[in-house]
Amino acid sequence: MLYCVGLTGGIGCGKSTVAQAFEALGAAVIDTDAIAHALTQSGAPGYLEIIRQFGSDFVLPQGGLDRAKLRALIFSDATAKTMLESILHPLILAQVQTELKHCDAPYAVIVVPLLFETKSYLPLVQRKLVVDCDESSQIARTMARSHLSEAEVRSIMVAQLPRQERLQQADDIIRNESNLASLRSSVAALHEQYSAFALTMAKP
Ligand SMILES: Nc1ncnc2c1ncn2[C@@H]1O[C@H](COP(=O)(O)OP(=O)(O)O)[C@@H](O)[C@H]1O
Ligand SMILES: [Mg+2]
Repeated sequence: MLYCVGLTGGIGCGKSTVAQAFEALGAAVIDTDAIAHALTQSGAPGYLEIIRQFGSDFVLPQGGLDRAKLRALIFSDATAKTMLESILHPLILAQVQTELKHCDAPYAVIVVPLLFETKSYLPLVQRKLVVDCDESSQIARTMARSHLSEAEVRSIMVAQLPRQERLQQADDIIRNESNLASLRSSVAALHEQYSAFALTMAKP
């Protein structure tokens, strides 16, 4: 069995940045957001099932999924949100399992924004890593990255687990409050630990 770390954290706390740093050190990174994106490209299984259930109104005139329209719908309609999740969640989980099977790195980092909320990935991981930063940095970074207003960022944050509850469930925490060099050195220290754990687990 492959040693797996579940990486989570609030929006804009630095999950993708941390994942890149692990990848640079030789870990395999499996990103559920990237998988969700790929599954909803024109013609992909998630896309086809969304159009089948939601209708062709959700296809843009130039082709492709109308993500803005879908986002607006699930924001205001809980049934639609559940429908979308029941299409995508099983497809994403299956793809993660396929990628794990083909993984030849010493260990894998699975990026799951809602690791503690959905619980589906907890059985796959040996270790839970939370990347955390102060709310003010989180909001500023997300606003800059995604061109969102503070109100929009806060509305996403309320759908996620409160910070303290996330931290309570962590085995490891990376504080992402300083610069990128310091973030990379936190990642390097954990990479040493995880590589050692993975070796122990790989022994017969
Ligand atoms: N320590 C840091 N210093 C400055 N900018 C950062 C730092 N960590 C992350 N960022 C930036 O903040 C934004 C959010 O980080 P990202 O890794 O995309 O978060 P997440 O994947 O958790 O939503 C990105 O634009 C990223 O480049
Ligand atoms: Mg990200």
